[in-house]
Amino acid sequence: MSRKIPWIEKYRPRKLSEVVNQEEAKKALLDWINSWEKGKPSRKAVMLVGSPGTGKTTLAYALANEKGYEVLELNASDVRTGERIRQIIGGSMKMGSLFGFRGRIILFDEVDGLNVREDRGGLAAIVELIRESTWPIIMTANNPWDPKFRELRDEAEVIQLKPLRENDILTILRRICNNEGIKCEEDALKLIAEASGGDVRAAINDLQAAAEGKKVLTKDDVTVTERAHQFDMFKVLDKVFHARRFDEARSVTFLPSFDWENYYPWALDNIPSVYAKSIEAVSDAFDNLSLSDVVKGRITKTQEWELMPYMLELMTAGVALVRNKPPLPRFARLSFPERIRLMAKTKEIRQLRDALINRLRVELHVSSSEVSLYYIPLLRLMATSDTFKKKLLERLMKIMGYSLESVEKTLGVGGVNTSGEGEGDQRKSPKRPGG
Ligand SMILES: Nc1ncnc2c1ncn2[C@@H]1O[C@H](COP(=O)(O)OP(=O)(O)OP(=O)(O)O)[C@@H](O)[C@H]1O
Ligand SMILES: [Mg+2]
Repeated sequence: MSRKIPWIEKYRPRKLSEVVNQEEAKKALLDWINSWEKGKPSRKAVMLVGSPGTGKTTLAYALANEKGYEVLELNASDVRTGERIRQIIGGSMKMGSLFGFRGRIILFDEVDGLNVREDRGGLAAIVELIRESTWPIIMTANNPWDPKFRELRDEAEVIQLKPLRENDILTILRRICNNEGIKCEEDALKLIAEASGGDVRAAINDLQAAAEGKKVLTKDDVTVTERAHQFDMFKVLDKVFHARRFDEARSVTFLPSFDWENYYPWALDNIPSVYAKSIEAVSDAFDNLSLSDVVKGRITKTQEWELMPYMLELMTAGVALVRNKPPLPRFARLSFPERIRLMAKTKEIRQLRDALINRLRVELHVSSSEVSLYYIPLLRLMATSDTFKKKLLERLMKIMGYSLESVEKTLGVGGVNTSGEGEGDQRKSPKRPGG
């Protein structure tokens, strides 16, 4: 009998293109390695940050594989003795060419697992290694936001990976089923993907446990273990809204699958209904949520990742601890964010609108945010008012080659309802291409 190969190894992506849905991270990683290849490294090191099983280690190896680099992996004991690190710093240049590699990448996997007390001086040694290294260094970490990692973070470009969505995980699972020649029922795969909470490793392991050796996989074959991170957004919000203490609310941010980008519209949409009975509560919660957005803007702009905890605390504890908090029912009625729903529903219209805005931007010599803030509402007003103004609009648009119907559709008047989309879009508008 042949020994079983763990599917997480068998199906580990070898190329960047096989790594699913980490496009931003891949691009950042490639830009960084390219800067090395041009002889002008943007930073000596990068730190891949993300929850378990999102592809950090995989990305590091895939990059090396694709570029023909050798990976030299370091671990805590190397740091403790310091011996190997000195060797690397000392003898690295000659080694590379000896083996015919174009180069090597130093990988320090799971740096946040370093026991700082035990490996005293360990962090300092890595920082020194980064400063002196002539090789690119990749670090990975689940949760490097503790202040003790600050110096290390500062030495590196932080690249954030996302927890994978259920759909991405389904894609990965389906591919494996095909490859193994197993007929996997969609329901069975869904169950596994749901339970994984964005952790691909967990999902693949569950699949292997349930499906290996079978011809057909049905829902009944699947037993998924309840995982600590099996926590959907409803539960996250419920916990936040019910929290009475700071750390209680903040605790959701420690869940491996906590997805703060997704959390934001959820909180935004549910605050008014959950706190409906107290205007102070709504006001405080919105205040803190918007502050978290300000902090987020600052992080994006300046890469000051140590601000991250403040952002997370404002968006969770800041929403939970409010003046005059009304009593909440045992299970608050929470709703799916309208914004996400609308964005999906109005995709076509938004594309039309973007095209119109872009056109007007060029014709009027103004920025696209100005177009969407001032001109679009004006056009909309014209389209919905008396016949004279409507005729005027028709003539104006005709010059640009638009029919009245298509403009009406684009503006969301005359039968197509896109109301409520306005504010959201205006916030986004400065980001429009060319704007
Ligand atoms: N984005 C992805 N696309 C395809 N497969 C993935 C992806 N992420 C993870 N996997 C699969 O899951 C397994 C685990 O991924 P990996 O070891 O890279 O996770 P990790 O982020 O390093 O997790 P940890 O923090 O636990 O070390 C891989 O062997 C691979 O098969
Ligand atoms: Mg890993």
